[in-house]
Amino acid sequence: MTDTATLEIQPGQLFIGGEWQDAASGETFDTINPATAEPLTHVAAAAADDVDRAVKAARTAFEADSWQKLDARKRGKLLYAIADKLEERADELARLETMDNGKPVREARMIDIKESIDCFRYYAGWADKISGDVIPVPGPYLNYTRREPVGVCGAIIPWNYPLQMAAWKVAPAIACGNTVVLKPAEQTPLTALELARAAAEAGLPAGVLNVLTGFGEPAGASLVNHPDVDKIAFTGSTAVGKIIQKQAADTLKKVSLELGGKSPNIVLDDADIDAAVKGASMAIFYNTGQACTAGSRLLVHEKIRDEFVEKLLKRASGFVPGDPLDPKTRLGPLVSAEQLDRVMGYIAQGKSEGAELLLGGDRVEVNGKAGYFLNPTIFGDVESKMVIACEEIFGPVLAVQTFSDLEEAIQIGNNTEYGLAAAVWTRDVRKAHHAAHQLRAGTVWINTYHNLDTASPFGGYKQSGYGRELGRYALDLYTQVKSVWVNLG
Ligand code: NAI
Ligand code: MG
Repeated sequence: MTDTATLEIQPGQLFIGGEWQDAASGETFDTINPATAEPLTHVAAAAADDVDRAVKAARTAFEADSWQKLDARKRGKLLYAIADKLEERADELARLETMDNGKPVREARMIDIKESIDCFRYYAGWADKISGDVIPVPGPYLNYTRREPVGVCGAIIPWNYPLQMAAWKVAPAIACGNTVVLKPAEQTPLTALELARAAAEAGLPAGVLNVLTGFGEPAGASLVNHPDVDKIAFTGSTAVGKIIQKQAADTLKKVSLELGGKSPNIVLDDADIDAAVKGASMAIFYNTGQACTAGSRLLVHEKIRDEFVEKLLKRASGFVPGDPLDPKTRLGPLVSAEQLDRVMGYIAQGKSEGAELLLGGDRVEVNGKAGYFLNPTIFGDVESKMVIACEEIFGPVLAVQTFSDLEEAIQIGNNTEYGLAAAVWTRDVRKAHHAAHQLRAGTVWINTYHNLDTASPFGGYKQSGYGRELGRYALDLYTQVKSVWVNLG
């Protein structure tokens, strides 16, 4: 991690039933390094017949005694072993994630890879603690519940936290005794393949985890439509989440969705301004703004607006786009040419709608390469009806709005179809909790931003999705409850 040396990256195959295989069609696609716009390697492009093979392998593994009858403690041990294998290669995995996704290597190592390892260890601990209840019922009966696995779970994940999103789904799923077919995003397929390698080395039975690199169509869609998949866990855009929910209706799969956000970050006039400035810039520039919880709407009390914005511009200018493999870099490129175009489109729209461009808005070149770098961008005088205040941009673009009292801030904050996260900065404990209770979002931060932990639930209100990942809440996503009656009469 201390050097910027690149890695020798081998072409990737599909991982099905414990074996590395080409796609049936033989097709492959390139995965691009967003810092250079050059291909890193190519991986197999899965299609419907590959999905079918992977689902069959997952079903066979699910029904096998080697998984069904495995002592839950041994399941836990397998998860600990996967965590150990990831940890042995943590520095290398961080570099790989950085090269595939563009995120600063320091963040990849300290957040993505570390949190992925933590996630496997956390759910390893749960494996032998998943229990039902004994329910008091009338009559001479014993009634008890069992928490049984759902079956074959399809996991479809995005490119912004590739290994971490895989861990959030795979770890609880297998801890609960399910088997998984994982489809990583086409932009960032490489660390999911390393997860498959780690699982194989850890001794996870063949077919318990299968990994299919490929595109949303056909690979993701075939997984959603497959009649023998019991559940789909999806993280990604709200648009695709809606498609998945509709398509899953045909086979009545269980679905959990973690979708987009347009999170309000509210600064009251009694806040610690310096701390809030620091928090507000991290809230939007962390991961180049490509975070579903990004604090993309900054709502500042009108009394402190000028001082706050002046300090914010200064702080934001410190996020200088740079080579993500350099441990000092804090702002990497956007993930793809497509994402850069989308974000540039929003910047143009912000200007044409009459928002004032206070900072950035332009591309930059790093190391003389055609990477997808964009300067930190801040718009002032943004109004709630402007597109840049309503739609998820998923880039380093902040919209600043003002308000005159707490109720107005809450009203503006809630004026969105999303509900993933929100934050409030104040020294008044009553106002802080009032806001936390009134804001319609799955996570609310008080005098902080972007905190996450494997033990704490994560998910959305409104069109940010449903179902809670992480913590003990994820056990509800990956188990189903059976009620058993025994006649004692
Ligand atoms: P996307 O939602 O298309 O991709 C996410 C995953 O879904 C990928 O694995 C993709 O292959 C898969 N997918 C796409 N179409 C599918 C289909 N019809 N059936 C099954 N799977 C399908 O996201 P995309 O296009 O990469 O990004 C577009 C926007 O989505 C971003 O600008 C951002 O606003 C939002 N987004 C939000 C994320 C979040 O964490 N909530 C993550 C990624 C993107
Ligand atoms: Mg897409």
